[in-house]
Amino acid sequence: MTEALIRPARPDDAAALAVLGRQTFVDTFVEGFGIPYPADDLAAFLDKSFSVETISAKLAEPGAAWWVADRDGEILGFANTGPNTLPHPDARPSHAELRRLYIGRDAQGLGLGTKLLKLALDWMEAHTDGPLWVGVWSGNEKAQKLYAAYGFEKAGEYDYPVGAWNDHEFILRRG
Ligand SMILES: CC(C)(COP(=O)(O)OP(=O)(O)OC[C@H]1O[C@@H](n2cnc3c(N)ncnc32)[C@H](O)[C@@H]1OP(=O)(O)O)[C@@H](O)C(=O)NCCC(=O)NCCS
Repeated sequence: MTEALIRPARPDDAAALAVLGRQTFVDTFVEGFGIPYPADDLAAFLDKSFSVETISAKLAEPGAAWWVADRDGEILGFANTGPNTLPHPDARPSHAELRRLYIGRDAQGLGLGTKLLKLALDWMEAHTDGPLWVGVWSGNEKAQKLYAAYGFEKAGEYDYPVGAWNDHEFILRRG
């Protein structure tokens, strides 16, 4: 099997990123963790968050950066960063936030998440004037362990809306 190449995302990756993002959200949070989202809330959230229009706009967002793991033209995972949006009293938009780190189910455990995370963190350190931030679902211990291994510590908690449902999330900070 060819090794995946990590490269910056391009505008024409939007459709593949939308499909992968939607599928990975469902695999991880609905099927994996079994979060009981009301069906209508989940459908509205997925349609909005992972539409090609939304992803295209986020790829073009000023101050954002995206990378993908590409194996022979197939996108296996992605990371994206941008100006901080997390609600913490010390956090500013001039700080960098890791917005998403998603590896598709069949490509997990191969080191791609770590590679994308390292690249994103290096970029974030060069594009922040304060700490780095990431929000993570409170029950996602695998992701929390990975972030802890790269120096993130719990700094707060907040509710992330999925329609009328709220996911309880931790706010992690590095620096
Ligand atoms: C969390 C995630 C980004 C990790 O990326 P990955 O490519 O699967 O992980 P890696 O192969 O780089 O391994 C990272 C660490 O996780 C551990 N790990 C990998 N697969 C695992 C599994 N199935 N269960 C538990 N730990 C696992 C590895 O042992 C490694 O730790 P180590 O360095 O101490 O050995 C990825 O699994 C993912 O996208 N999951 C779904 C979405 C998600 O939860 N995103 C993060 C929060 S938004």
